[in-house]
Amino acid sequence: MKENYEARIQELLGKMTLEEKIGQLQQCGPSLVGAFEVSFEELLNMMFDGRISEEEFGRLMSTAEQDFHEDDLRAGKIGSYNGVGDAATANRLQKIAVEETRLGIPLIFGYDVIHGFRTVTPIPLGESCAWDPDLWKRTGRMAAQEASAAGVHMTFAPMVDVAKDARWGRVSEGAGEDVLLNGCYGAAKVQGFQGEDLSNDDSIVACVKHFAAYGAAEAGRDYNRVDMSPQRLWEEYLPSYKACVDAGAMAIMPAFNDISGVPCSVNRSLLMDVLRDKWGFEGMTVSDANAIAECVNHGIAADREDAAVQAIHAGMDMDMTSNVYTENLAELVRSGKVDEADLDRAVADILRTKFAAGLFDNPYQTSEEREQNTILRPEFRILAREAAQKSIVLLKNEGNLLPLSENMKIGLAGVTAFQRGEMLGAWAVGANGEDCVSLAEGLVAAGAEVVSLMAGKDAENPESGAKEADISDEISVTEMNISGLAGNYAALSADCDVIIAAIGETKDQSGEAASHADITLPDEQIAMLKGLIATGKPVIAVLFNGRPLAIPFVAENVPAILEAWHPGVEAGNALADILFGKVNPSAKLTTTFPYTSGQCPMYYAHINTGRPGGKAKFTSKYLDTPLTAVYPFGYGLSYTTFAYRDLAVQAGEDTVTVTVTVSNTGTCAGDEIVQCYFRRHTGKRVRPVKQLAGFEKISLEAGEEKTVSFWITREQMGYYDAEMNFVTEGGKFTFFAGGNSADCLDGEVDIF
Ligand code: GLC
Repeated sequence: MKENYEARIQELLGKMTLEEKIGQLQQCGPSLVGAFEVSFEELLNMMFDGRISEEEFGRLMSTAEQDFHEDDLRAGKIGSYNGVGDAATANRLQKIAVEETRLGIPLIFGYDVIHGFRTVTPIPLGESCAWDPDLWKRTGRMAAQEASAAGVHMTFAPMVDVAKDARWGRVSEGAGEDVLLNGCYGAAKVQGFQGEDLSNDDSIVACVKHFAAYGAAEAGRDYNRVDMSPQRLWEEYLPSYKACVDAGAMAIMPAFNDISGVPCSVNRSLLMDVLRDKWGFEGMTVSDANAIAECVNHGIAADREDAAVQAIHAGMDMDMTSNVYTENLAELVRSGKVDEADLDRAVADILRTKFAAGLFDNPYQTSEEREQNTILRPEFRILAREAAQKSIVLLKNEGNLLPLSENMKIGLAGVTAFQRGEMLGAWAVGANGEDCVSLAEGLVAAGAEVVSLMAGKDAENPESGAKEADISDEISVTEMNISGLAGNYAALSADCDVIIAAIGETKDQSGEAASHADITLPDEQIAMLKGLIATGKPVIAVLFNGRPLAIPFVAENVPAILEAWHPGVEAGNALADILFGKVNPSAKLTTTFPYTSGQCPMYYAHINTGRPGGKAKFTSKYLDTPLTAVYPFGYGLSYTTFAYRDLAVQAGEDTVTVTVTVSNTGTCAGDEIVQCYFRRHTGKRVRPVKQLAGFEKISLEAGEEKTVSFWITREQMGYYDAEMNFVTEGGKFTFFAGGNSADCLDGEVDIF
């Protein structure tokens, strides 16, 4: 039963001075005092605009001591920190807050625990391909156990921004293009992070982000405008955040972007009318980094003071590192420009979250001993390996080239195959690349004989070749002349049985501020593949990437393809498990893979238009690119095969029941993610040709079959009319069931 803290909150508020109230709204990042004597944020800006190199920035980061503004903390001017990730520092700062400030209000420590803390699991886009809420919850629980041991009280996760544009780098951080799937993923993560009781020492507050519709950034360019109808916002984006609020999330992070001209950080309609009044959210809102101050750049606030007035009135409780509240609110309240009731409401939200997190009753929720005994526990690595196994998608397996036998001699190409750190993916803030198992190491650990094809000299240009690639070494990209080695693949792979080629992106090519106008595989990787194919050996491509890539060449010319994403600390072992058939792959894509960047945004739940794409000239299509996807949403293969039959659709008063029989028609056991979609043929507004209504992962022995049922409610089939009335009227519907969004059985029914 949720405890009622209101009396304790009001009692505390009654004692607080104006400055102490404002202090609760201030979240600081650990600033770095280095040779430049500037703040961490300024140092970042200096790197971004090229005044210092990334190497210089890294050197400064490593040499500078951290400044936690302890005098301000003692004066009650700080309520939270972002980025403190060790027990000793957290407890030291907490001691100052609890024992050296007038009211002893505990700090709440926030951190980006996006896909694991030290035991890094696959990037969220990868883990979403497991279609497995139980797994998502378990990895969330593990992340909470590990992060809370390091002093973290709140994670800035789950990210449930529906993302339909592969150019946007942050597609890597969420659960793909479908709003139902993002909602299921987010709710499971909230339950995992917050546990059975949020006040437990090993529970952390889930801060759902980025509210809202950040994934709809125009042109896939990060931080760009978001402009859409209210109908689309409510049908295709808001439900994933609401699922997390309904799951009990106690924090929300408004997004950097505007929605139809009003930045989320100052969007009262979003933060008060929707979040509080409609959805009953009782936790706290915390801005994105510097986002309140950036409302001046947006052009919605005249200056920082104006930004502070608008944000506090809109329902933005905590200011992450922009300092506009701490600089302006006291004078604004005293002058009457800001109603102190708005300030009190924000403080109450933050205090309520701190009470719910158990911080008042137990401000010291970890110790260095607990941290030491928790980080990278063996059972965490076992779960990370399971998560990676269930996230890796088998996209192609011509001639059943996979699984390999362990006595095969493997030629390994592509620098990423030898790199550990790249396996972390984006947003592995507290992690250490050295904790990862590279693909090369995983293959060797599985007992395979592996020859590096990245070694040796370029036949025409011997001095340009790369150093002999020792399988156990992590090799930096600069040491590899990957473009010029085509000449000696044949020689190097002469006595290999198969070749495995690691292709894709580095971990820094997706995530924040990592949009790509072109998502095509780079030329030098295509050249490498051509050289490998020319050897005549069977080639298996393993993709390491943080977004859907345009890979028509690979799909056309490489017989076996695994989409591994950035799989985390157990990357190499999980890949070896799949490559050698210890685990039968079961993952399915949660984003569409286009042929070209020009098709973006591309997604399965599209509308039909008045001239559906086809052969005829005057229809909606491209002259230079197919209208279909290279691989569609929901697609993924197995080492066995599945057949669907006997789809039945039964319309009841308020629910439609869809049943389908699935059989394992292959030679080994396997898991199949059965998907159910529907289409409303006619509406007061045009409707998508397919919408995911439900999914179920089933396990079938070879020859076994199972009948799966889905129940879809009128509510699920509802939508908004032109006047924003939510309508659930009947009509002609088609229901689909299948193993991906493009290849389904279907049945039509009239609903009255
Ligand atoms: C970043 C990201 C956000 C993250 C925050 C705190 O700018 O937008 O996702 O949680 O800063 O690090």
